[in-house]
Amino acid sequence: MTASIVLTGIKPTGTPHLGNLVGAIKPALALAESAAKSLYFVADYHALTAIHDAAKLRACVREVAATWLALGLDPERVIFYRQSDVPEIFELSWILSCFTSKGLMNRAHAYKAAVDKNREGGVEDLDAGVSMGLFGYPVLMAADILLFRTNVVPVGKDQVQHVEIARDIAQRFNTIYGPVLSLPEARISKDTAVVPGLDGRKMSKSYDNIVPLFLPPEKLKKLLFKFKTDSTAPSEPKDPDASPLFHLYREFSSAPETEALRQRFLTGIGWGEAKEAVFTVLDRALTEPRRRYAELIADPAKIDALLTEGAVRARALAVPMLNEVRQAIGAR
Ligand code: TRP
Repeated sequence: MTASIVLTGIKPTGTPHLGNLVGAIKPALALAESAAKSLYFVADYHALTAIHDAAKLRACVREVAATWLALGLDPERVIFYRQSDVPEIFELSWILSCFTSKGLMNRAHAYKAAVDKNREGGVEDLDAGVSMGLFGYPVLMAADILLFRTNVVPVGKDQVQHVEIARDIAQRFNTIYGPVLSLPEARISKDTAVVPGLDGRKMSKSYDNIVPLFLPPEKLKKLLFKFKTDSTAPSEPKDPDASPLFHLYREFSSAPETEALRQRFLTGIGWGEAKEAVFTVLDRALTEPRRRYAELIADPAKIDALLTEGAVRARALAVPMLNEVRQAIGAR
């Protein structure tokens, strides 16, 4: 199916790393290419469930916006905005919450994880530390999606449940008022192996094994040399498919390059050489984005202006849609 309206939200948290690039950013940018319309936004009000520091929130929004722009998001083609600049989302969120059963929210995984953590920690109030924002997170996400008649939502596996919840809420609404809302579908970013981190486990901030995207070359190289490897001697044959380094290399090289490295693994390659090879292709892929990122982050006013422009375009779509919803429910 060629995608018609594609939308995704980007939560502004933490240092963007290689895992984000391969697992989320690259596939989302590719999907935007083939979409009739695409909307990508920085979900700052979702981040507000966790970040209660104005300067930090502002900085995180700019960092994540600069990251996507540096990696090739074209704000002419993609409507790129900051969630909090589109007030229609929050009005729709309230409306939708009136069609969302509390039980459905009880089953949402972020809330369930918080409750489980309290239970395991022997905390008596199982809801301790849970704000209404965290509890209702999926409703806001449904509003993000449904306000723009989204058909396809590129997300990681962890967000699929949320897209299904958005679909459920839309169906509930449509059952009462007729086909006002479009039903969205999740598109899971990628089914290839997860990007391995420095210790071989999935690259993730919570494992402290990430490779940040915009390190200067020397630092990048140093970090890559920390990749965990075993003690097989350089001359011994190695299984490329079992090597996180090889998987990483493959993500950033051409088919013939990949094949050539595969052969070197099979005939024996030193781990130092393998790391060097990974560094070479990574550095090649990141040189230009690194330069663009530095340029953007040095000019926060420009990032803000870009996002503001994007919000104007987003609202041009949001206002008529919200009016339809208001009509349907009997608001003015
Ligand atoms: N919840 C998503 C995340 O944690 C971010 C997000 C917010 C989102 N609104 C969205 C993703 C709408 C897709 C569609 O990553």
